[in-house]
Amino acid sequence: MKLESWEFDVLRIYNPLRLGHLQFWFDFLWNKIADIPGDVVEAGVFQGKSLLAAGYVLNQVAPDKTLFGYDTFSGFPPVSVPEDDLSRFDDLASEGRISPDYLTRVQKNLAHLRYLKNIEKLDFSTVSSSGSFEETSKESIESLANYMGLSNISLIAGPFEETMTDTASGPDTIAAAILDCDLYGSYLTSLDYIWPRLSPGGIIYLDEYYSLKFPGARIAVDEFFEGTTAKLEGVTDEFNGFERWIVSKPSN
Ligand SMILES: C[S@@+](CC[C@H](N)C(=O)[O-])C[C@H]1O[C@@H](n2cnc3c(N)ncnc32)[C@H](O)[C@@H]1O
Repeated sequence: MKLESWEFDVLRIYNPLRLGHLQFWFDFLWNKIADIPGDVVEAGVFQGKSLLAAGYVLNQVAPDKTLFGYDTFSGFPPVSVPEDDLSRFDDLASEGRISPDYLTRVQKNLAHLRYLKNIEKLDFSTVSSSGSFEETSKESIESLANYMGLSNISLIAGPFEETMTDTASGPDTIAAAILDCDLYGSYLTSLDYIWPRLSPGGIIYLDEYYSLKFPGARIAVDEFFEGTTAKLEGVTDEFNGFERWIVSKPSN
């Protein structure tokens, strides 16, 4: 079904017809994805707000592509590593890996959240406004996809460590992927799976490379690509002026 702008709001999914925080990702889907071989991956789906919008766009511009959505669909896996601790933002700043302005924004964001939540101390599971992302289900997203007439979405449930393996069924070739999975280990696992399958000219959108809540994603990305020829680049965001980052695989 074709949707008008207001209908995305009613259905409570990201509006790919309007300027928003995923501007670069949706511009890429609208304008470039059809020319790049392979399917599309979203690592970190939660309630499917961005996934269903991406499925809607792909259905129009590249209906032969499948959109694979990976998540536990029951919240963060129960792992906690030092790289995800908020104190790692201070380390990143003292190592010169994030700017003083970035650190100031992290601190302001925490102060605002502390004020709003009226609590003294935040741990990383409460820094996200959606907690640990338990409030979702694979069935509810499949139902909405069906209602929207989208048959190009494949949801793969489980921790990435089990679903993103060479023996698991999934895409052989990937044209583009969005990582929106917040955590150090989740970034490493998904990069390890996606990068070797990414077509030349393809991109990975790194939602948390500039995050005010999750330091581990940047640490993982830097570790993963160190010493490689992968091209990590900041891209324009007219929405709120934040840095947005992608990594691309050079065309041959
Ligand atoms: C920020 S939310 C995704 C938001 C979503 N893209 C949207 O548009 O609303 C992060 C999601 O990543 C998932 N996630 C993080 N690490 C994971 C892992 N190792 N395995 C499976 N799911 C994971 C969480 O369950 C959570 O639903």
